[in-house]
Amino acid sequence: MTKLNFWNSTWALDEKQCPCDIHFLDYLDENGIKGCNIFHMGTGSHHIVGLRTASNGTNNQVLAITASRDEYAAYIDLLIDNPRLGFSYKAYFGDLYQTDARLLPTLDYATLFHAGEYRTSENDKYGALTDEQVGLVLAEKLNPGGEMHFYTGSFAYDVAKRVGESLVAKRGFSDAGTYKSLHIFRKPKA
Ligand SMILES: C[S@@+](CC[C@H](N)C(=O)[O-])C[C@H]1O[C@@H](n2cnc3c(N)ncnc32)[C@H](O)[C@@H]1O
Repeated sequence: MTKLNFWNSTWALDEKQCPCDIHFLDYLDENGIKGCNIFHMGTGSHHIVGLRTASNGTNNQVLAITASRDEYAAYIDLLIDNPRLGFSYKAYFGDLYQTDARLLPTLDYATLFHAGEYRTSENDKYGALTDEQVGLVLAEKLNPGGEMHFYTGSFAYDVAKRVGESLVAKRGFSDAGTYKSLHIFRKPKA
């Protein structure tokens, strides 16, 4: 029987090993980003991106996906105990490679920190998108000037970089360089 290629694991915050979420929050902070819509791949069980955003007065909104049963359960518990969190942070369980533009809001930032890390032939069995296709779907939902962020420390950064290069070649994005461990691609303003 074909099964969803979910992540049968969980991830606690470990800034030394995987600082991408922290670096993304630093980026938002340093650039004074307020009132923006963020799509975030990979919540971790810590949910730091959604939690920090909900508590720092920025009015940023986060829609995040997890493919981990445990991480999703952690979100449910967080929300039950902090109902106000639900106004600005929505996490859902699913496979990133089933992303459909019709179900997404318009976005200012999209993170694909774990592009290429977990997509296997298991995803092919149910016709899932490729990394490049997911990048293009999210690119469509980004507002002009919006950004897609990748993680240079990923073991699949070669795949992530190819997704970014495809945004440049096919959608006219610019390579906006790096910030800490992140690689940023920006959608044209018009
Ligand atoms: C190593 S953890 C990193 C979590 C967090 N970004 C961090 O750096 O602390 C990888 C994350 O990718 C998510 N993930 C793995 N496969 C996925 C998929 N197919 N769709 C969506 N998320 C996925 C996992 O649920 C997990 O949150």
